Amino acid sequence: MLQEVLESLSERPRRLPSKYFYDARGSELFDAICELPEYYVTRTELSLMETHVDQMAAALGPRVCLVEMGSGSGVKTRRLLSELDAPAAYVPVEIARDHLVDSVGRLGEEFPELEISAVCGDFLQPLRLPPLSSEPRRYVVYFPGSTIGNLTTEGADALLSRFSDLVREAGREAAARVPGGLLLGVDLQKDVAVLEAAYNDAAGLTAEFNLNLLAHLNRRLGTQIPLDAFAHEAPYVAESERIEMRLRALRRVEFELAGRRFVVEAGEPLVTEYSHKYALEPFRTRLADRGWQVRQVWTDPQQYFALIYAEAR
Ligand code: AVI
Repeated sequence: MLQEVLESLSERPRRLPSKYFYDARGSELFDAICELPEYYVTRTELSLMETHVDQMAAALGPRVCLVEMGSGSGVKTRRLLSELDAPAAYVPVEIARDHLVDSVGRLGEEFPELEISAVCGDFLQPLRLPPLSSEPRRYVVYFPGSTIGNLTTEGADALLSRFSDLVREAGREAAARVPGGLLLGVDLQKDVAVLEAAYNDAAGLTAEFNLNLLAHLNRRLGTQIPLDAFAHEAPYVAESERIEMRLRALRRVEFELAGRRFVVEAGEPLVTEYSHKYALEPFRTRLADRGWQVRQVWTDPQQYFALIYAEAR
């Protein structure tokens, strides 16, 4: 964490890694954001899931090993697992140990027949799946929530390639008979006013979520960054097709980290998160370039969000 923060703070514009939003308070705030009237993302994806889960389960087929990247709150996962035809195994990959243990415990009670093998780790790093006692027919990476949009373009491309390698290798080792799959949630481009409202909510929860990143760093790394010296902003940057969340310094701020002195000038931004918004057709090409052939796409009537099912070619 120290290394990552030192590196991203030294870039220009300065950045802070968005994965550090999620301490206990940050996770609580994110759950509350998902319920906000302006934040259409979770609601839309959930209703897509409700409407089309039978088709998704049919596309994945029987005896699937579902590998979920970031185990989330589990609502969408439960819905999917309960619809799947005799799922072979569920492998959640999650960095927050308490959250993982908690959600796996609850899922185990609900799906006593299912083999659950949890991995506590960062899905952005190369990953090997744990050995399973069941024999899956297909490995499917499940990556909902448009978390992919929080990576840089290069980071997202690398991750898509890594996912296709992962299902291919796992399938080979387990002699799975059909190509591996990817069930991916992506947030689509839409009216800028809708986008900006979602990241600048009236209740101020997203601002609190953004500022909490500094509180998390202060606690974990011993920095003394004054939270009241920064203001939340989240404009849509059309050229980059993304919301850019930033913390803008309201005055000059000096702090120390690992013996190094950092000076953030008044007016200078710290970039805390990108949230890319995609157009479907170019995204399909991008997937194809990373070894994925799109089989099915589900979108809502407003075309706010898409769930894409692709297979490793
Ligand atoms: C987790 N991720 C998909 C959220 C998003 O919409 O990019 C994180 C978030 N940031 C602010 N609000 C929600």
